Amino acid sequence: MKSFKGRSIISIIDFSTEDIISILETAKEIENRKDKGTLLQGKIMASLFFEPSTRTRLSFDAAMHGLGGSVVGFADPNISSAKKGETLHDTTKMIENYADVIVVRHPLDGAARLMADSTTKPVINGGDGTNQHPTQTLIDLYTIKKTQGRITDLHIAMVGDLKYGRTVHSLAMALAKFKCRLSFVSPALLRMPQYHLDELRKMGISYEEYTNIEEVIGDIDILYMTRIQKERFPDLDEYNKVKNVYTLHREMLEHVRPNLRILHPLPRVNEISTDIDDLPYAHYFQQAANGVPVRQAILALVLGVKL
Ligand code: CP
Repeated sequence: MKSFKGRSIISIIDFSTEDIISILETAKEIENRKDKGTLLQGKIMASLFFEPSTRTRLSFDAAMHGLGGSVVGFADPNISSAKKGETLHDTTKMIENYADVIVVRHPLDGAARLMADSTTKPVINGGDGTNQHPTQTLIDLYTIKKTQGRITDLHIAMVGDLKYGRTVHSLAMALAKFKCRLSFVSPALLRMPQYHLDELRKMGISYEEYTNIEEVIGDIDILYMTRIQKERFPDLDEYNKVKNVYTLHREMLEHVRPNLRILHPLPRVNEISTDIDDLPYAHYFQQAANGVPVRQAILALVLGVKL
């Protein structure tokens, strides 16, 4: 297997299809492995969250603890020296003396790349602004593979905030590598950015754009719902126009394919009615659970553990 030792995970675009498959296979191996509790003994992960998070931060912590490593960091930048004006570059240069790997979430697009350029330690992007969320994408791909038996040649619909949602930006680029058919469902205000559509065209991927879930729901394998990202709108009046634009209701699932699975990176606000949670189509909580083995694989690989 190709070595990932010392490699930063900044954007899914940096990874070949073979790299992605290799990470997913490692996640499967780690998930099934009983003796993993000491794989990262003596290693330290710095967890720097400049933006709110539940799943990404806690599943990275759980992943590191589950492999015998330890965690330092902060979940609120207001209690760090960023509050006093320290630059991200200086913070990163200093933290590389305290930790073997750095996980960061930041509100600015490109922040994780800047950090990776500031240190010799691997940096893992836990979400930068509207840009990328590569570890979420690896979790999404792992979940798709588990539920469908493959990633290639599926029809996948992404619904909601396609303009500001970093999870859909990462996932669309990754699925293009697997030659999936993509459908984008959003209001006009929240369409997938043109530069991503151009990239898909260059990669020879066919995609369609819709406004209503009903137009596509009977013909897809994966329905990827997303939250409207209130915190990214420069103008709250614009947010108010689209805030409740999509809610998936139980009756909308009457004529779907039997293998359909509904995913959502979470948190959900009101995009999926809770009476769907107990249907076999609903798979978003299992998707979140997959965060631990996938992030364990990423940590083990970038820290050079031989499995
Ligand atoms: N999916 C995801 O990134 O969730 P959090 O914002 O809770 O980390």
